[in-house]
Amino acid sequence: MKQTPILIRNASQLVTLRGSSDQPLTGKQMGNLNIIENGSVWLEDGLISMVGTDEEVIQAYKGRLHEAEIIHATGKLVTPGLVDPHTHLVHSGTRENEFDMRLQGASYMEIMNSGGGIHASTRATQAATHEQLFKESFERLENFLLHGVTTVEAKSGYGLTLEHEMKQLEVANELGEKHPIDIVHTFMGAHAVPLQYKEEPDKFVDIVVDEMIPEIARRKLAEFNDVFCERGVFTPEQSKRVLEAGLKHGLFPKIHADEIEPYEGAELAAEIGAISADHLLRASDKGISLMAEKGVIAVLLPGTAFFLMAESANGRKMIDAGVPVALSTDCNPGSSPTVSLPFIMNLGCVKMGMSPAEVLTAATINAAHAINRGKEVGSIEKGKKADITIFDVPNYMVLQYKYGVNHVSTVIKSGKVVVDGGKLVWHNTHIHN
Ligand code: NIG
Ligand code: FE
Repeated sequence: MKQTPILIRNASQLVTLRGSSDQPLTGKQMGNLNIIENGSVWLEDGLISMVGTDEEVIQAYKGRLHEAEIIHATGKLVTPGLVDPHTHLVHSGTRENEFDMRLQGASYMEIMNSGGGIHASTRATQAATHEQLFKESFERLENFLLHGVTTVEAKSGYGLTLEHEMKQLEVANELGEKHPIDIVHTFMGAHAVPLQYKEEPDKFVDIVVDEMIPEIARRKLAEFNDVFCERGVFTPEQSKRVLEAGLKHGLFPKIHADEIEPYEGAELAAEIGAISADHLLRASDKGISLMAEKGVIAVLLPGTAFFLMAESANGRKMIDAGVPVALSTDCNPGSSPTVSLPFIMNLGCVKMGMSPAEVLTAATINAAHAINRGKEVGSIEKGKKADITIFDVPNYMVLQYKYGVNHVSTVIKSGKVVVDGGKLVWHNTHIHN
């Protein structure tokens, strides 16, 4: 069935980020949003057909205006749909009890080492049925959409057995089919050493390498392979084994690096040619310069630092060193239970010294590159997916300045209006397959 074309008219700022589809933006380029004032966009068949000033677009489509649904964006900010390149979307339950414990002084690692943390969510996720997991994760996705996010990466890692890791990835696949948000899949069997392997973690690494990765790859359940490289979890040597095994089976490496302690995770990311290294709160200067040299994207997660009451990664230093920086929520039940990428962008400014323009680049085109989707989404350019977010603010600086409020008014996903007036409307229009 042919879709009704959509014409978004006369945005006070249309953030295009055009010209960035081939490579992530670095250094000073990260601050160049390529804005069109009084900008308009014509969307057709799920794609962007024309981008320009209102005058240019109206001139080009004057014979077809009656066909289109017109969205007036006067006084508003139009951006590419936001992209979240690092989430633990599929999990069961919440861990507010641990939040309370941390507020009383317990550390994240202490809680994990005593059988809580990731282990607590693993128990809940293992016990949940496919249907339960689907329902809980679907609600999170709805909330992502309300915050302007149109593409989400989703990791497994709360199954920790082949059966339950597959269950998580299958739920993520079904979510991708049934929900408008596009999902990009990451296997993260090496998220924690299960308690029964505490004394012999290499045995668990063997299982991940010899049993889980080959089967996940054979079933085409994931595109990326991630590991929690951290003292007390997986060593750099074990992490390397896991990432190399993934590469051998066609899964591209990602890494949770230098989150709690400096552990040469950034160095490993550069050595192995990871597409991204994520967290990096305690990354070394050497690791940062190696990442810049190899073009490894830093996916920074300042919501995690905020919620763990730790010092954020030094985003400013990384951008100045030439590392392409992306931003993400890290949405998970322990260290960052949020779906608000706009709030994360605000933290990027306030806690990591990034500018309002840089955080927008980091949550759109650079985020898209961090999950190998730079050619499809992340900027507003002819031929790309018609994924667009409209914020009820007059310019991109106000988006950061008026913080803690959801400014999203309209979201368009693959050429269809899915959020209107800040409310979900896609259930009225989408046809399920
Ligand atoms: O990215 N660091 C490891 N994994 C997650 C937290 C997972 C959890 O606590 O459940 C993170 O912070
Ligand atoms: Fe994470």
